Amino acid sequence: MNRKTLLIAATALVLGMLLTGARAQAQEPPKMPYVFAMYCVMCHKLGVQIGPVGIYDMISKSGNPLHEQYIRNNTRFGFNAMPAFRVSEVTPKELNAIVAYLKDVAAYRKTHPDFNPAKATQGGVKQ
Ligand code: HEC
Repeated sequence: MNRKTLLIAATALVLGMLLTGARAQAQEPPKMPYVFAMYCVMCHKLGVQIGPVGIYDMISKSGNPLHEQYIRNNTRFGFNAMPAFRVSEVTPKELNAIVAYLKDVAAYRKTHPDFNPAKATQGGVKQ
């Protein structure tokens, strides 16, 4: 690769990064990963209350995103009434997607406080 090609490649890379950055900032509601719709929404949606707290919103009391390791531990080991999910059910890659998704939801909520990621009709409910 000569210098000119390298420069063009580097420019394209930087431009690409800028463009994706801009897209990430756009106010699009985060897209729910399939695995979350499949395994989590049935309990974590508006209108479902198991135990003392409404658990649909997956957000800490302070309004900050849940800690990544907390999400991972709850998913792998369960949490009171919440079942544990094995690697054969939720793969490591899918767990990464869940963590990223919940981060995005928390970020989106900063500007859209009423955003409800999982409507009561989602997640296997017959309509
Ligand atoms: C059978 C119902 C059920 C399913 C399915 C379920 N959960 Fe839960 N989850 C719960 C309950 C109940 C709690 C609250 C436990 C408590 O606080 O005692 C909870 C709590 C959590 C918390 C902590 C929330 C908080 O605000 O502290 C996280 C994170 C979580 N679940 C993630 C998941 C993910 C990710 C999935 C899908 C892979 C999932 N859950 C599937 C019932 C469920």
